[in-house]
Amino acid sequence: MKIRKAVFPVAGLGTRFLPATKAQPKEMLPLVDKPIIQYSVEEAAAAGITQMIMVTGKGKRAIEDHFDSAYELEEVLRSKNKDDLLRQVEDISRLGKFIYVRQQQPPLGLGHAVLMAREIIGDDAYFAVFYPDDVMNCPTPCIGQMMEIFAQNNGGIIAVKETDEEGQKRYGIAAVEPTDNPRLFKITDVVEKPGPENAPSNLAIMGRLILPKEIFDELEGAKAGIGGEIQLTDSIRSLIKKMPFYAYKFEGEALDAGEILGYLESTVKLAIKRKDIGEQFRNLLRQILDKNSEG
Ligand code: UTP
Repeated sequence: MKIRKAVFPVAGLGTRFLPATKAQPKEMLPLVDKPIIQYSVEEAAAAGITQMIMVTGKGKRAIEDHFDSAYELEEVLRSKNKDDLLRQVEDISRLGKFIYVRQQQPPLGLGHAVLMAREIIGDDAYFAVFYPDDVMNCPTPCIGQMMEIFAQNNGGIIAVKETDEEGQKRYGIAAVEPTDNPRLFKITDVVEKPGPENAPSNLAIMGRLILPKEIFDELEGAKAGIGGEIQLTDSIRSLIKKMPFYAYKFEGEALDAGEILGYLESTVKLAIKRKDIGEQFRNLLRQILDKNSEG
C-alpha cells in the first residue's frame, strides 16, 4: 500500500509570531532563504508523495503563489542567465500536485483542519500529515523512514522523539509497549501535554503522522478539547482502541520553528549546515558571542 497524499494544515493564526504574522502566513517566514512550509513539502516529495493537500485559510494566499509557477519572474531570470536561481524557482512548482482546501475562520484547531481534507483523501486507506512547524533535520526524510516502517507494519505511525520534563508539558506523549525493533513501539494511549507527573513515557509526538482514513469518522464526531479546539490527539486516542498504532523514534532531529526561540535555533542550525554560507556564518556567530562576552 502506497502513501500518495499528504495533508499540510496551514490555516492557523500564528499568534506566537505577531506582529510578523499580522498580514503574512507564519508558514511563509523564511528559515535562511526558504519558507518554513517548503521544507515539509520537499521532505514529502523526496519520499515519493505526489499530492500535497494544503488546508489554508484567510490571509494564506502567499502559500498558493509560492508553489505555483512564476512566469514573469522565470522569464527575467532566464533573460539574465541566472540559471541556478531559475532552476530553484521552477523546481518549487514541480514538487507535486498542489490541492487547496479552505478552513473557515476562526480556525477550530488542527483536528478540524485535517478533517477538511476528507473528500480529497477519498478512498486512500492511509495518508500522511505534516505539521509544517516541525522542520526535520534528518539523514533521510523522516516521512520516508516512517513509510518504510509502514510497509512492514500496516497501521497508524506517529513520529516520536525522546523528551525531558519540559517537553512532557509541551507535547503530546505516547504510552507505549516495546517491539523487536528498538526504534518502534506499539502505542497504547496518547495524552496531550500531561506534564512530568502524569506522563506515561518520555516519547513526545512530533509533526509527522501516517493516519488511516478512519480518523475522519473520529474527527466528525469530536468535541472541542483544550482551548476550544478540535484536537487531532483526541481522535487518535479513540482510534487507538480500534486499530494498530505505532510510535517510531526516527533518525535525526526535529526543529521546532513554530515558536520564537525554536525558530531562531532552527535558523542557526540550518544556516551552519549550508555549504555556501555555513563556514562564514559560524565565524560570524563566534565573533558576535566573543564581543558579547567581552561586555
Ligand atoms: P499551531 O498551533 O502551531 O499553529 O498549529 P497556530 O495556531 O498558527 O500558532 P499560534 O499558536 O497561534 O502561534 C500547527 C499547524 O497547524 C495549523 C497551523 O497553521 C500550523 O501550521 N493549524 C492550526 C490549522 O491549519 N488550523 C487550525 O485550526 C490550527
